[in-house]
Amino acid sequence: MSEPRKLYIKSFGCQMNVYDSHRMADSLAAGYRETERPDGADLVVLNTCHIRERAAEKIYSELGRIKQLKTAAEKEGRPMLVAVAGCVAQAEGEEIIRRAPVVDLVIGPQSIHRLPDLVARAGAGTAIVETEFPPEDKFDHLAPPSLLATRARGVTAFVTVQEGCDKFCTFCVVPYTRGVEISRPAGKIVSEVERLAEAGVREVTLIGQNVNAYHGRGADGADWSLARLLRRLAQVPGILRLRYTTSHPRDMIGASANDLIAAHAELPALMPNVHLPVQSGSDRILAAMNRKHTRADYLAIIARLRQARGDLALSSDFIVGFPGETEADFAATLRIVDEVGYAGAFSFKYSPRPGTPGATMDDQVPDDVKSERLARLQAAINGHAAAFNRRCLGLTFDVLMEKPGRLPGQLTGRSPYLQPVQVMAPASLIGAMVPVTVTDIGTNSLFGVLADTPRIEADSRVAPSLAALGA
Ligand code: 5AD
Ligand code: SF4
Repeated sequence: MSEPRKLYIKSFGCQMNVYDSHRMADSLAAGYRETERPDGADLVVLNTCHIRERAAEKIYSELGRIKQLKTAAEKEGRPMLVAVAGCVAQAEGEEIIRRAPVVDLVIGPQSIHRLPDLVARAGAGTAIVETEFPPEDKFDHLAPPSLLATRARGVTAFVTVQEGCDKFCTFCVVPYTRGVEISRPAGKIVSEVERLAEAGVREVTLIGQNVNAYHGRGADGADWSLARLLRRLAQVPGILRLRYTTSHPRDMIGASANDLIAAHAELPALMPNVHLPVQSGSDRILAAMNRKHTRADYLAIIARLRQARGDLALSSDFIVGFPGETEADFAATLRIVDEVGYAGAFSFKYSPRPGTPGATMDDQVPDDVKSERLARLQAAINGHAAAFNRRCLGLTFDVLMEKPGRLPGQLTGRSPYLQPVQVMAPASLIGAMVPVTVTDIGTNSLFGVLADTPRIEADSRVAPSLAALGA
């Protein structure tokens, strides 16, 4: 049998891309083995992000570096195929080939199940561009990961349950690149999570652009809400923790949302963190962004979530400098940061995206104003994140041990609130959930000591493969 060829996949952007990258590697597993480096690879796949201009530009500079490797490989008589997948592929299509002729294949996010076929056809001289939204469901045609591949990826996993967006926020490209909102059938997700658990996965994060809008068909013919799906997944043997991201405030209102909020009070496996982007604290800007909720709606949702689970860690996304944003609008954003007291948040300067309504709005905010507001916002967010971390000092909570830490003899795990926690502990505990007492606070992580003997034994099938990876 011939040596498997080498595949290098690099993911940019969100967790949905990380998930898609894994599934692309799985679908090519018959002919390709994944490698950590692009040099020497037979196939390079860049799984791209188009959300902000800088994210898209990064792809072209990466392609510049890949071009040198491809030229060097060709000199040695080794062909190298280069594919661009993801949202830049969807948005720019042919334009990518024009700007970067090094690319052999452009493939949109909804076509990734066609990758093995397309790779077999690519490299014949004419570049292939596949950016249609095909009629078949990619999830039905994607090869599942092998047990070995899943184990090598560790004890936590993402599962895409919902894709696309119908909300059309005026700054956002997602509805154009990922298409309309669809939910995967509940039974397929349950089977996927069962397989992950068999391979040693202990924590699953359900992902989707609007994950709390999930409404997948169940085996009983009824539409399942996210809460119903979470309750079912909590019963899968081996699954200790569940999370979900990213939620939209609009879908935190109504009957399904009430059930989801109740699940935070009732379901021990559902971890106490919710990522609920608000984008701005100003009603005027929220309306211009077409967010479909007000500041008061948002704060009422937060109050209800906190009522269900008092210790909830809340996080958000913010955009500063949306067209028309005044200093008073921005002050309202700073105020909402203080009112909610986030455990963490992502914040961005508004980046006009071609084809979105925001890009052509009047009153674009100058870049220096955006930078200055971003710095003030990030200082406020960091202050609250540090306060949240400080409140953890002295607490004892379960930590799921994920991988070796930075120092010898140290493991890194996650708290229920998603903070990384560094603990001196033997590698045999990877995959175990252990009580840890927090003894110190770093900038990006907590430090702790083992509080007791592990309550849940490490899965012996997981620990050796992870230790061998030295990940
Ligand atoms: N400019 C800046 N930030 C953006 N985001 C989405 N589109 C843009 C844009 N055009 C941010 C939002 C979103 C996160 C994923 O990226 O905050 O929640
Ligand atoms: Fe983009 Fe808004 Fe949809 Fe989120 S809800 S993906 S920000 S359009």
